Amino acid sequence: MSQFSYKDGVLHAEGASLTAIAEQFGTPTYVYSKAALLSNFAAYADACAGRDALVCYAMKANSNLAILDLLARQGAGFDIVSGGELLRVLAAGGDPGKVIFSGVGKSVDEMRLALSHDILCFNVESIPELHRLNEVAGSMGKKARISLRVNPNVDAKTHPYIATGLKANKFGVAFDDALDTYRTAAKLPHLDVSGIDCHIGSQLLDDAPLLEALDRLIELIDQLGAEGIELHHLDMGGGIGIDYRDADDAAPVPVGTYLGRVFARIDAWRAERHNGKPIKVIFEPGRSIVGDTGVLLTKVEFLKHGEEKNFCIVDAAMNDMARPALYQAWMDMQPVVQGSAAAAEFDVVGPICESGDWLARDRSLAVAAGDLLVMHTAGAYGMTMASNYNTRGRAAEVIVDGDTVHLVRQREKPEDLYALESVIK
Ligand code: LLP
Repeated sequence: MSQFSYKDGVLHAEGASLTAIAEQFGTPTYVYSKAALLSNFAAYADACAGRDALVCYAMKANSNLAILDLLARQGAGFDIVSGGELLRVLAAGGDPGKVIFSGVGKSVDEMRLALSHDILCFNVESIPELHRLNEVAGSMGKKARISLRVNPNVDAKTHPYIATGLKANKFGVAFDDALDTYRTAAKLPHLDVSGIDCHIGSQLLDDAPLLEALDRLIELIDQLGAEGIELHHLDMGGGIGIDYRDADDAAPVPVGTYLGRVFARIDAWRAERHNGKPIKVIFEPGRSIVGDTGVLLTKVEFLKHGEEKNFCIVDAAMNDMARPALYQAWMDMQPVVQGSAAAAEFDVVGPICESGDWLARDRSLAVAAGDLLVMHTAGAYGMTMASNYNTRGRAAEVIVDGDTVHLVRQREKPEDLYALESVIK
């Protein structure tokens, strides 16, 4: 059930009117629903109930401390990709013992930080990284738990920028090299080989490629077991997509259905070929936890009627939400107050000095200057990908809980943006 709905012609987030939120906090503002967040997490948690499984939220999708705190309180672990993200987890009260560290370029300092907090696992992506981690752990008198990110060479059938499991991608260890890489890892004294992982891409609407990847991982676990290398966990990565309400998209497979299929395959394999031995299953969902929990609230500055197109110029821009400019992503836009003007076709654009600064194209919208608009399904990869291009402060963020609105990130002021700079004396 969407937590964003019209009441008396005005769009509400749970019980709070977006008009009132704009008046109180200004625009552009990211508005999240706490109930939507908890229900998305519950879809994973419920499907994992009674199983040896851990949901590590991929916080790159949205790393606001309030969101991390809410998820940590539900028992979430976290998938991080930088030392900065680990510090956010700690600041939000998350448990480092439930943190997994992904990414192709972990620095020595980041490894040290993560080891000092005894994170659950490093998802290692190359042989040089194995050696670096072994050295760093050795220098600290520790053993690092590792998993290898294996590239199963499965076509995720998603946008090329967010497909990650193909041979041509920079991620992971090639499937054909995986056995050798595990053998190398098993010989390194300061590593504890503990799991296997993959991540084949994001915004996957169908789970068939994910299940294909799972089969390939299982194949490797069997081969490793035969050599005496026992793995204790299997990490499916993130990837189940969400409904952006794009008429061209198929509906995504429900989270519970996908997880049910994963567990069914794993149960069958454990019974038939793994002697019933336990294996922990980890998921790293990002988009499907936060995507539909948020909207980007923006105000129409001007309507401009060009020679070929009409432009609806709003106060949010590609620096606030980069997905349309970067991936030609289709994001749904709606007016906050219904029926305030006659509908016309517009490109919704921001004030940034680039032709690529658009949020939506060729949309029929009933809007007038001064009206409020929302971009739906903006909770994932919105604020975390925001920049300060054109010296624009990043948007405010609020979380709605019933009819209470909590400011969880203040709007950045221009002074904040140059506070770390100085002129040459
Ligand atoms: N695990 C790893 C190792 C990842 O690289 C990612 C996303 C995830 C988990 C979470 O995937 P999700 O559940 O969100 O699909 N900025 C792009 C998406 C980039 C995804 C990168 N990796 C976008 O806005 O569409």
